[in-house]
Amino acid sequence: ATQKLLLLPGDGIGVEVMAEVKRLIAFLNKTGLTAFETEEDLVGGAAYDAHGKAISDAAMGLAQAADAVMFGAVGGPKWADVPYAARPEAGLLRLRKDLGLFANLRPAVCYPALADASSLKRELVEGLDIMIVRELTGGVYFGEPKEIVTLENGEKRAVDTQVYTTHEIERIARVAFDLAKVRGNLVHSSEKHNVMKSGVLWKQVVTAVHKAEYPEVKLEHILADNCGMQLVRTPKQFDVIVCDNLFGDMLSDVAAMLTGSLGMLPSASLGATDPTTGKRKAMYEPVHGSAPDIAGRGLANPIATLASFGMALRYSFGLAEAADRLDAAIAAALDEGLRTKDIASAGQNAVSTSEMGSAVLKA
Ligand code: NAI
Ligand code: MG
Repeated sequence: ATQKLLLLPGDGIGVEVMAEVKRLIAFLNKTGLTAFETEEDLVGGAAYDAHGKAISDAAMGLAQAADAVMFGAVGGPKWADVPYAARPEAGLLRLRKDLGLFANLRPAVCYPALADASSLKRELVEGLDIMIVRELTGGVYFGEPKEIVTLENGEKRAVDTQVYTTHEIERIARVAFDLAKVRGNLVHSSEKHNVMKSGVLWKQVVTAVHKAEYPEVKLEHILADNCGMQLVRTPKQFDVIVCDNLFGDMLSDVAAMLTGSLGMLPSASLGATDPTTGKRKAMYEPVHGSAPDIAGRGLANPIATLASFGMALRYSFGLAEAADRLDAAIAAALDEGLRTKDIASAGQNAVSTSEMGSAVLKA
């Protein structure tokens, strides 16, 4: 059966790193391992230039119909003054919202060849492989009321509201437990039930889902502040960490720094599974942006995007072995000493985006 993939390269280096994914797809299709049918459309500033909005309804239709979306990056100084509703980031936000992508997966993997680029000592991070599962559509970033009001005495009062329902916690917990089953079989659920009602409910619901559906997976509860501390103390104790939107935002950035460069970090965002088709909406993208400072010069590191495609192979297309081989190929290219500028050490010769892509492809 064909597998439908929508490519949205976007702006800046998004276009350059996506080109390496296209070469990989062409190779995989040629081997007969996959039968990807790809479509490509505009998003971000490129879509604004063509249609006056950050993503067209036609492109949204393609995203809805695809088995997975590969997203590059959007934005750049060229679009600094476009109307707010049409700013490049609006394309990304609409994709997340309309596809219902409630689970954000941010792996933090430390390739041995790059262990010295971590903010921690080599022995603490070498071989690190953590998955942070962040709830993406609820919590304090979206809860109502959300306002700044002026009080009678002239003082101002700002309000953000943390809201979570049983359903929202159950579905993110299932994503975490399902991942743990195919990884290290361990979930840390991170919240602050000591000071937050949403933390109390979070802990109760995760415990109930665990007991009823995943008793074979090991579950630990950890307060979010302690989780931050443990991540920089002994990060290899973790396998999967599940947390709300706010704590996940912070913990995933902490974990990112354990691994080295922004150019190495992939991500996935997953939606609900359709009960009739068994399929789930998903979008895969590098964590980095469009890097206007290096765009158009073949300097970008394609690994974050290639690894994001690896997550698509694993989580949308059931091709775990191919995904493992892609990860091994990335590690092999790094072991050979190939470095793009962002991960090269001082004085080291850097390779181009396509040279790195070729080395991964060859491996
Ligand atoms: P950025 O991630 O684009 O760049 C930050 C720094 O990291 C730059 O020095 C850049 O050269 C470097 N860098 C990033 N990715 C790299 C790669 N693959 N290889 C080598 N070096 C890399 O973030 P910045 O500069 O804050 O934002 C630039 C534009 O990107 C802005 O318009 C911003 O709004 C947008 N952006 C878009 C995102 C997305 O599409 N998901 C995420 C973050 C920013
Ligand atoms: Mg962040």
